Amino acid sequence: MNAREPVKHNPNQPRTIAITGGKGGVGKTSVALNLALTLARRDSRVLLLDGDTDLANVSIMVGLYPRKTLANVMAGECRLEDIILETDYGLHIVPGASGVQECMDMGPTESLRILRALYNLENRYDYVITDTAAGLQAAGLHMIAATELACMVVTPDPASLTDAFSLIKVLRRRGYNRIPSILVNMAQGASQARSVFQRLDAAAQRHLGISLHYMGGIWRDETLRQSVLNQKPVALLPVSDPSCRQFHTLADMLDVRLSQLPRRKAGIAAYWHKVSKRESANPPKALSKPELQTESEAPALKERCLNAVGEIEAVFSQAPVDPLLRYEAFTRLFALLGSTLDSDAIEIIQTGLGSFQWENLSPERKHHLAIHLRELADQISPVREPATPEPAQPVLREPFYDRISFGEQDRLVRVLKEQPADISLDQLLRSLSGNDQGRS
Ligand SMILES: Nc1ncnc2c1ncn2[C@@H]1O[C@H](COP(=O)(O)OP(=O)(O)O)[C@@H](O)[C@H]1O
Ligand SMILES: [Mg+2]
Repeated sequence: MNAREPVKHNPNQPRTIAITGGKGGVGKTSVALNLALTLARRDSRVLLLDGDTDLANVSIMVGLYPRKTLANVMAGECRLEDIILETDYGLHIVPGASGVQECMDMGPTESLRILRALYNLENRYDYVITDTAAGLQAAGLHMIAATELACMVVTPDPASLTDAFSLIKVLRRRGYNRIPSILVNMAQGASQARSVFQRLDAAAQRHLGISLHYMGGIWRDETLRQSVLNQKPVALLPVSDPSCRQFHTLADMLDVRLSQLPRRKAGIAAYWHKVSKRESANPPKALSKPELQTESEAPALKERCLNAVGEIEAVFSQAPVDPLLRYEAFTRLFALLGSTLDSDAIEIIQTGLGSFQWENLSPERKHHLAIHLRELADQISPVREPATPEPAQPVLREPFYDRISFGEQDRLVRVLKEQPADISLDQLLRSLSGNDQGRS
């Protein structure tokens, strides 16, 4: 099928899937591309929206170097059809799809023009798959909310599980109530994949009250790793090849899961249209009850907080993870907290507390961290009310607090303040969780 030719519309809406995960390097792009190619190889019409802002994005992985992306369409320099890349088995790719978020900042006529073009485009396909960037940025969260099925890629690395957990938590807090599917990538075998899933599922059940769906595992595979370097995806190998075959199994699992979900009446473009209408109707603080809330208030603060998130993620994704780097990331975040203590910031701290290797810290670092935690406690609940309200201190939404993990907030504050400066942080963590088991 040629991207520029008029194509018959799909009488149904396409099935829409977001390949996502809280962390970079877990294999989202590899999975999105190989899955899309496998579905296309089975004669389905597949559109891959490349929303990854990484250098190693979908186009690069198939050796295509787009000259134009969605940004050019939005600038009015070309039509949506003009940027579509076609690769093996007629798979179509939209490069720079993360830019759809920027439609919100355009005038209503302009954004409508692009969303209408996207709407017409997606209706030509059986599957629309999006590869999202890592992290908790609004564009990625919206991409997940816009699709029927979120397939979260995790690996046996514990940091990928805490990141995925945070992502699920942030999504749910913002009103997302579908069940994510979990795909365990780089597993050594079926039993490891299962047990990784079970760890995440147990945490989600215990702390978020939901059971996750197990989509299966993809093995750690040298052929797959090499295929990225050679720009020849494994989905192009003979079906009998084990590296290729596992994506056929994944495609089967996906179809089974999709058959269990009700078809959505609206696609991705319709979702964005809804968001854009809502944002232009309520530009200031008021947050309506949308599928996924965006923080339209205090954009500068939000940006700082998101930058902090990005910094933390950049540090955390370095391997091997050095406790000192984590500590540095924390201190930077704490420094920012004076004005950005919002729910996202609290989220990061909780995730960080959960994955911190307290026992490896030197006594001086433990001491420093104890001081920072005490400062943090002061910010959650100041000791003295200031005599006059501080104009520079913007009031953000009630921060989300994970009571299940850390007990009542008053108690946390008391515990943090009452610890002597030389407290062992192992003890502190135990007191935070209210028992001797810590967080799972
Ligand atoms: N199952 C796997 N086995 C071995 N290497 C993998 C596997 N999946 C991904 N990789 C490698 O991990 C790296 C990151 O993959 P990528 O798809 O770019 O991740 P992400 O999009 O999540 O950042 C790439 O070098 C890729 O070849
Ligand atoms: Mg990627």
